[in-house]
Amino acid sequence: MTDMLVKLYDIKNDWNFIGNQEKLGITIRKPIGPEKRYVVDWVRRKFMMEPWASETDMAFSNRPISCFIALQKKKLIGFACYDATALGFFGPTGVLRQRRGKGTGKALLLACLLDMKLKGYGYAIIGSIGPGEFYRKAVGAVEIPDSTPSIWKDMLFRL
Ligand SMILES: CC(C)(COP(=O)(O)OP(=O)(O)OC[C@H]1O[C@@H](n2cnc3c(N)ncnc32)[C@H](O)[C@@H]1OP(=O)(O)O)[C@@H](O)C(=O)NCCC(=O)NCCS
Repeated sequence: MTDMLVKLYDIKNDWNFIGNQEKLGITIRKPIGPEKRYVVDWVRRKFMMEPWASETDMAFSNRPISCFIALQKKKLIGFACYDATALGFFGPTGVLRQRRGKGTGKALLLACLLDMKLKGYGYAIIGSIGPGEFYRKAVGAVEIPDSTPSIWKDMLFRL
């Protein structure tokens, strides 16, 4: 799986997706400190990915926290992080299977990318993309040549 590059300077400073999700009863916001353990455990449980739980933990260690969550009826339905794998990287992210297709994944992605843009980044890297078409369509991401296995190449364990 390759990495993708996103031009943050081409993404409009438009946070309307927050209101659009709100109309569907979905809240997109940043979590706060006391929610860390709950969110990290939820990511581990729902996506069965220990590395994703570690990366979410890292996002909570950043100041300000570099993670957004999606809630419906006060229950977690999705999450997205950046500066968690490495500086400038977006991910991990996920929306519960039964809650997909309502724009929540894109809203979480845009929240992270706009937050990165406001922080001063010019580009974001989507690490080891799964659904490339999703990123291409949502934010015009392009594949980075020869970027496999990317930053994960010397990891202590295999993903
Ligand atoms: C990828 C993911 C976060 C998308 O969440 P979602 O809430 O279903 O996405 P959205 O509803 O915001 O979709 C936005 C657009 O992307 C499209 N899209 C969503 N998932 C897609 C996919 N896997 N492949 C191609 N297009 C996709 C939607 O059709 C939608 O298109 P539209 O704007 O024309 O309607 C979700 O499928 C997921 O959690 N997948 C498993 C975890 C994962 O792969 N994470 C990424 C690791 S890099």
